[in-house]
This record gives sequence, structure tokens and C-alpha cells, in this order.
Amino acid sequence: MEELLRETTRWDNGQLINRRTGGIIKVMIPVHLFGQMADMKSLMEIAKTYRLAVIEDAAQAIGSEHIGGKRAGEMGNIGCFSFFPSKNLGGFGDGGMCTTNDPHLAEHLRYCARMAPNQNIITR
Ligand SMILES: Cc1ncc(COP(=O)(O)O)c(C=O)c1O
Repeated sequence: MEELLRETTRWDNGQLINRRTGGIIKVMIPVHLFGQMADMKSLMEIAKTYRLAVIEDAAQAIGSEHIGGKRAGEMGNIGCFSFFPSKNLGGFGDGGMCTTNDPHLAEHLRYCARMAPNQNIITR
């Protein structure tokens, strides 16, 4: 991941830019698959170096534990879980959950959950 970012991005005015597309890169999304957590310790260090927010896709990893005791969804800025019936913790129908320890993000996520079905509210 570090090598990929080093080779495919550049800095411009404090923003991380994709050299090929010119797009601004703000977020890293590690995906924990089959209950196995991504190497979050290394990825969090890389995210810090590249000033990226981290959104953990923990749809398949509820309850999974990282070396050192941290659980899926606990290390990134936001953790996302799926309760689709085929997932580790399947619900009766569709559903999901986001986790964060940032009160401002939590409020924004609550707002998204309430309003997103009705309008395009993702502005930044
Ligand atoms: C790793 C992963 N992320 C995200 C999703 C999407 O979850 P949902 O269907 O609840 O939006 C899935 C579902 O297959 C998944 O396996």
C-alpha cells in the first residue's frame, strides 16, 4: 500500500492527488474479509503519513480481533458493518451499522442515516 501510494500519487497544495486521474484522495478503505482483519497497524501508519481518513469495511468481520486486542471497526475513523442475512451477524432482512469515537462524525452519520434515503446529502 505504501509503495502504491508513493508511486501513484503526488502532493499539491497539501492535498494528495492521484497522478493518473488528478482526483483528490482523502480516504483509505481497508476491507476485512472472511472474519480476517487487514493489517490495521501498518495501514493506520500509512494513513497517518498520507493524511488519509480510514473507513473500515467490517461487513464480514463483526467481533474479529486484531493482534493487540482491538476489534474490527475500532481502529479507523469509521467502521462499517453489514447485517445482511449472509454476513457473520445476519439480520432478518437488510441492515447495517457504523461505529466511530468521533462525536461530530457520529452526528453526521446519524444525519446521513435519517436523510440519505430522501436526498443527496453527501457534500464533502
Ligand atoms: C466486504 C463487504 N463489504 C460491503 C458489503 C455490502 O454490505 P451491504 O449489502 O449490507 O451493503 C458486503 C456484502 O456483500 C461485503 O461482503
